[in-house]
Amino acid sequence: MNHVHITALSLGLAGIAALGLLNQDGASSADRDRLEALGYTGGPATVDVDAVLKLTHERYADLKEGANADYIPVLAEVDSELFAIAVVTVDGDVYVVGDSEARYSIQSISKVFSMAQVMSQRGPEVFLDGVGVDATGRPFNSIIAIEEFHGHEMNPLVNAGAITATGLLAGDDADSIWQSILDNHAAYAGRELDLDLPVCESELATNQRNRAIGALMHAYGLIDENYERATEVYTRQCAISVDTRDLAVMAATLANGGTNPVTGKLVLDAELVPEVLAVMATAGLYDDSGKWLFACGLPAKSGVGGGIIAVSPGKFGIAAFSPRLDPAGNSIRAQRAIVDVSEALGGNPYRVRPR
Ligand code: DON
Repeated sequence: MNHVHITALSLGLAGIAALGLLNQDGASSADRDRLEALGYTGGPATVDVDAVLKLTHERYADLKEGANADYIPVLAEVDSELFAIAVVTVDGDVYVVGDSEARYSIQSISKVFSMAQVMSQRGPEVFLDGVGVDATGRPFNSIIAIEEFHGHEMNPLVNAGAITATGLLAGDDADSIWQSILDNHAAYAGRELDLDLPVCESELATNQRNRAIGALMHAYGLIDENYERATEVYTRQCAISVDTRDLAVMAATLANGGTNPVTGKLVLDAELVPEVLAVMATAGLYDDSGKWLFACGLPAKSGVGGGIIAVSPGKFGIAAFSPRLDPAGNSIRAQRAIVDVSEALGGNPYRVRPR
């Protein structure tokens, strides 16, 4: 199926133009032809999602700004040209364009799903009362952010909060906790997932900063005496290997109230989805989360592997992958692609038609 009926879509031509589907000058007849080709009718529309993805992929194919992460040495060796985009609707329809076969490490996107796993086991208050649910306004691996409020007033999507979250998961030893994390991610993706061993080994050899963060969170009483284990399991979690379709299915599971729309399986209690999305909206793109929300209104999460997921609640999940990052650690092409695709599909939950 190539067409999706977007019932709440109310895009103005200006809105589409602002996001690059039209030239800056407005709607030329060529632009209108392109929009018509996308199925745009100026109101509730049937949108050709494959065409939107293709056009967006073409638009950014030559964008070369930014650079691969290199503080995890093997990430610097990933082909910087790789570029894929995927959309999965709450009906389970899957659309992919570009390097869909490319697999890469999930990195910080995993923080969302482990945060959700902790909420399932202990309730969402564990974060409110612990590391917090507020943006730090600082880089993802900031130590100053920990020091400022002694381990509180942060969130589970920065490294300090995510290592703490891993330390809160039930399990007797590192392997059983790791297996539960992998199973949880697999349920969101709808298929078995594996560890990217070279990425894991590369990060384990160079994660002195995260080990310091784990130790500091223990010193402030946020992680128990197993803080080294928590840091090690967190590092494995970041090396889970995914492709862009997997990430879009994972995002779509959150868009669909916690039930995977492809497998039909309940993965997360629907009651917990709003809290998960709230933290993504607040802190998913770190110190650039405000700019991101301003651009597209979608709860999202990035990873230094180059992936980003975003969630349009009740509509679709979207993922994009491209390894070159901006200074905040967010993929430049993936951000641009998600903004444009979401806008073309009416994804922004804040954009409503006045009655
Ligand atoms: O802990 C780290 O530094 C990495 N494993 C993950 C960081 C990351 O993905 C930040 N996201 N943009």
